[in-house]
Amino acid sequence: MRQRDLPRTYRVKSFGCQMNVYDGERMAELLSEQGITPAPEGEEADLVVLNTCHIREKAAEKVYSDIGRLVKAGEEAGRKPMIAVAGCVAQAEGEEIMARAPAVGMVVGPQAYHRLPEMIVKAASGTRATDTDMPADAKFAALPKRRKSGPSAFLTIQEGCDKFCTYCVVPYTRGAEISRPFSDLLREAERLVEAGAREITLLGQNVNAWTGEDDKGRALGFDGLIRALADMSGLARIRYTTSHPNDVTDGLIAAHGEVDKLMPYLHLPVQSGSDPVLKAMNRSHTVESYLRLLERFRAARPDIALSGDFIVGFPGESEADFAATLALVDAVGYAQAYSFKYSPRPGTPAAIMDDQIAAEVMDERLQRLQAAINRDQYAFNKASLGTTCEVLVERRGKLPGQWLGKTPWLQSAWFEGDVQIGDLVQVELVEAGPNSLAGMLRETVAA
Ligand code: SAH
Ligand code: SF4
Ligand code: F3S
Repeated sequence: MRQRDLPRTYRVKSFGCQMNVYDGERMAELLSEQGITPAPEGEEADLVVLNTCHIREKAAEKVYSDIGRLVKAGEEAGRKPMIAVAGCVAQAEGEEIMARAPAVGMVVGPQAYHRLPEMIVKAASGTRATDTDMPADAKFAALPKRRKSGPSAFLTIQEGCDKFCTYCVVPYTRGAEISRPFSDLLREAERLVEAGAREITLLGQNVNAWTGEDDKGRALGFDGLIRALADMSGLARIRYTTSHPNDVTDGLIAAHGEVDKLMPYLHLPVQSGSDPVLKAMNRSHTVESYLRLLERFRAARPDIALSGDFIVGFPGESEADFAATLALVDAVGYAQAYSFKYSPRPGTPAAIMDDQIAAEVMDERLQRLQAAINRDQYAFNKASLGTTCEVLVERRGKLPGQWLGKTPWLQSAWFEGDVQIGDLVQVELVEAGPNSLAGMLRETVAA
């Protein structure tokens, strides 16, 4: 690679989960601190960071098509963008990317991106660099302070995964489970609130596996962290994702009944409604134990909205196994749920299992599952009609005077009125669609 100027503008493109969104924001802050500015809308950036996801085949392939597009756009404009590949594809396939895509100057894993500034200097002097070390705690200490935030902010509190579900790449791309220290999290949450956040979503691959110690050295579980954050006066709402059934504690369930700021929403992936499939997935919970947990959450917080993740077409999944998944969906009545076709990932045990399921079978099952989930989501929205609830105003709508915000149950609600981004307002839900609700602003709060 030739010597070149340091980049003056950047763009970070994040794919995948919310933890990647969080990392993307932190990378942007880090680059801004170096004096590199965000590229204006519609303009090519000098430095493009592709913050990638490796969870399914399609997601991983996207990175190569994106690199191709960037190179082509650069050629047309007569310049070469500096390209960094970050995120989980970088971690899993760093060497391969370097070999396959000469236009890429830097490969940086999810636990090493705090070292981007040095890598940029190297890349500018013509040295391509790969950094996929995994010292997650070092990363957070090296990142700049939070200065900007929208009304709803993400805060990564836990990283990595020790669960090794047989289909999943996360334990390999994100490393072992680690919890960020309590005091660091309180400080970052305070900064986010000072910067404008009214709602914080706590993030982790297994967010409820978080453990820590308070300032007196007493052990704290995830519910203890939630309770401590709830004491922060400027913070109005707390959410979290993604939680794992095996890390649910009595304290967390109780917190849903006791902590007003903890929103009535639970994303608890189950993946399948069939015990033999769950066993082959190494989920180490059963359908029954999962349903019992949901019952207990509902007992603590009767209006809680439930969400989950499903995989269809896991190796060996029979029609009867799939029917059990549909039965589980019917039994729970999810307010929202995500479903995916099984995607064999290199290096995972499931990728080499017998009885891989044919693509047409997966397609057909996914359609049936999504129809059931959509039906329940629509039903949940319709059941909210007539409710007046608190909405956090997040952005302007498409029409003048229109605003978009989120209900406590994470539904999108549209309404008109004289409000500002970041306001918490009372809205009566008057019209329900499959994916959002229309509301009327109510000036006065019923006592
Ligand atoms: N840590 C979280 C989420 C992990 S990834 C959890 O355990 O719940 C988000 C979702 O992607 C998973 O819940 C799963 O439904 C899906 N997923 C993961 N690996 C997959 C694969 N190989 N093929 C299809 N879907 C997958
Ligand atoms: Fe992947 Fe399972 Fe870990 Fe979730 S719990 S990140 S699905 S290995
Ligand atoms: Fe994707 Fe990595 Fe998140 S693989 S889902 S970006 S942890």
